[in-house]
Amino acid sequence: MAGTGTAHLRPEGEALLRVDDLVVEYRSGRKGKVHAVSGVSLDVLPGETLGLVGESGCGKSTTGKAIVQMPRPTSGRVVFDGTDLTSLDAEALRRTRPQLQMIFQDPISSLNPRRRVADIVAEPLTIWNRGAAEDRKKVVADLLDSVGIDPELAAEKRPHEFSGGQCQRICIARALILDPKLIICDEPVSSLDVSVQAQILNLLEDMKARYGITLVFIARPRGGEERERPGGGHVPRQAVRGRLTGPDLRPAGPSVHGRAARLHPRARPDGPLRLQHPAQR
Ligand SMILES: Nc1ncnc2c1ncn2[C@@H]1O[C@H](COP(=O)(O)OP(=O)(O)O)[C@@H](O)[C@H]1O
Ligand SMILES: [Mg+2]
Repeated sequence: MAGTGTAHLRPEGEALLRVDDLVVEYRSGRKGKVHAVSGVSLDVLPGETLGLVGESGCGKSTTGKAIVQMPRPTSGRVVFDGTDLTSLDAEALRRTRPQLQMIFQDPISSLNPRRRVADIVAEPLTIWNRGAAEDRKKVVADLLDSVGIDPELAAEKRPHEFSGGQCQRICIARALILDPKLIICDEPVSSLDVSVQAQILNLLEDMKARYGITLVFIARPRGGEERERPGGGHVPRQAVRGRLTGPDLRPAGPSVHGRAARLHPRARPDGPLRLQHPAQR
């Protein structure tokens, strides 16, 4: 067991993101509660990638959403860039939103089907009133180009005219456009063809290096029953590290350790990190 409490975490000032004792409960029925996440603590230093690995239903997505306060957690602290997000009022929280972005498992349904792709990617700039219209066009075109989407096609076409992998590239561009510090990637390749998965992981690594972002990378473990489902266990090739504990958590199993060591020789032995399904707790 990875241990409870936060004594093992690194000094708070060093972390871009630090989560202390995160608890998320959902209401179910009239009196019932679902304990989706109980007592998770983790930290991520600037430039790191935290791999968060666990079976379906163990609370990975809930952890990711609670970090961005959508919805707010039941209890615990989420300190991002020196500010406890759980203590912010709605307006202060809104102002932090550009810094924290999410990418989801199903890229096609993450994109508005009625809008042209270039407009979808430009939308955050419009909402946040960043730059003049002409500058925005250029920023969007450059970013689309850097994620491997032809800006001229994107100006004309809507999401359904692109493949799943291309739509994930578009989602990545949209997540990057406001120059975030942290991106939470929730199983970003799980729904994609095996042949495309590596391309998207490579793209995330390239973008991370190019734009100096920090990643929380959520994945399902490979092996066992998950082996049938392509892409379940993919984590990026780069550093997979970070620390996470809680009463529900166990250290990553041997196969996960082995994979981390193979994927990145300098990865610390304690990452990627594994959430455990309630049934196994
Ligand atoms: N909005 C919700 N309302 C009630 N229960 C939920 C909700 N979202 C998730 N859950 C439950 O919380 C648990 C964790 O879910 P989730 O975070 O989606 O897991 P994972 O992403 O690891 O598959 C599951 O038991 C799930 O059924
Ligand atoms: Mg999930």
